[in-house]
Amino acid sequence: MSTLNFAIVGTGGITLQNHLPGLAMCGDVKVTALCDTNPATLEAARQQTGVQTCSVNYEDIVKRDDVHAVIIATPNFTHAPIALAAIAAGKHVLCEKPIAMNYPEARGMAEAADRAGVRHMTAFTYRFVPAMRYLGHLIERGDLGQPYHFRSCRLQDWGTRPLGWRMVKKLAGTGELGDMLSHRINFAQHLVGPMKRVVANFKNLTPMRGGLPNDTEDWVAILADFQNGATGVMESSKLASGRNEGWRSLDYVELNGSEGTFEFTTGKWNELIFGKVGGPGLAPLAVPREFWTWPGSPRDPGVGDPLVAFRYDQAFEFVDAIRSQRPCVPSFVEGADVIRVMDAALESAESGKWIDLV
Ligand SMILES: NC(=O)c1ccc[n+]([C@@H]2O[C@H](COP(=O)([O-])OP(=O)(O)OC[C@H]3O[C@@H](n4cnc5c(N)ncnc54)[C@H](O)[C@@H]3O)[C@@H](O)[C@H]2O)c1
Repeated sequence: MSTLNFAIVGTGGITLQNHLPGLAMCGDVKVTALCDTNPATLEAARQQTGVQTCSVNYEDIVKRDDVHAVIIATPNFTHAPIALAAIAAGKHVLCEKPIAMNYPEARGMAEAADRAGVRHMTAFTYRFVPAMRYLGHLIERGDLGQPYHFRSCRLQDWGTRPLGWRMVKKLAGTGELGDMLSHRINFAQHLVGPMKRVVANFKNLTPMRGGLPNDTEDWVAILADFQNGATGVMESSKLASGRNEGWRSLDYVELNGSEGTFEFTTGKWNELIFGKVGGPGLAPLAVPREFWTWPGSPRDPGVGDPLVAFRYDQAFEFVDAIRSQRPCVPSFVEGADVIRVMDAALESAESGKWIDLV
């Protein structure tokens, strides 16, 4: 296939950190157009990339003939309209998480993309951590046995600084739930299976951040029952003071099953912790070399910081799925399945009740 041309809508933090270096790693790929509503941000991206087709209006960008695929990396409330415009123009779409503001919107995106015959992908970036992929493989092989418990804990120190669009509910939808817990809900459903019901609690302990109002939650916890009988406990906070943030802070997942226990932390990209049922206790389990990169990825795992570089495999997966004409992993369907749980968690936090998902 000839060169794949990409447009990127939203040229802020995650585009510079992840999407541009990821695309740069892929062969026969070109970024041909950029869009950002902030002219200064757009100009900085133009200068950094040398891409000359730039606009503050996504509608101009997504319908261009020299664009085959669109990456959406804007605030959450804009994802659905931009994705639907790109899909209507026949473009493949990789959209940041959470892909929409609610489940009907997310389902609508997945259905529109399937109807249009374009590839669709959700940027659940942590699925590309080598240890996470190896864990998925071992669980599929039966090493966990019958799943009993899923447990995740994401603890960061974001302090009380202002968070821009992230602290405005009508722009972000939710706070910590969409920012961080959405990834862990995806881990849970990927590793254990679909949830049956949830009960949740939210807390906003910083109604003002940097002198500006914050109407989103800093802390969220979800208790879940899975359809296969397993239980889930998920907690995520921006206010775990002193724990730092990003991959330097705690991102912990534990699974207990009839055959043993697995522990995964994002910070240990090539190691799991495993204990066999009835055995002497937990011990490190090295991730085999074949799992250090996504299948087919040209990335050299010895180059760069491995806690940053695994993220570039996400762009490779999108490109590879387009070229191979197969569904992306993870697709909008997984993105929507997470939003279904997020909607239920919101409803539960408001009503104080368990919410059924089946
Ligand atoms: N997958 C991950 O690990 C990960 C990590 C960080 C952020 N994200 C997601 O990426 C998205 C962007 O986050 P960020 O940290 O890059 O935010 P950011 O604020 O740094 O960048 C967003 C950019 O979008 C621009 N923008 C706003 N509305 C627009 C519109 N209608 N059209 C074009 N541009 C528009 C803004 O001017 C800004 O430059 C969010 O959905 C966030 O949840 C995902």
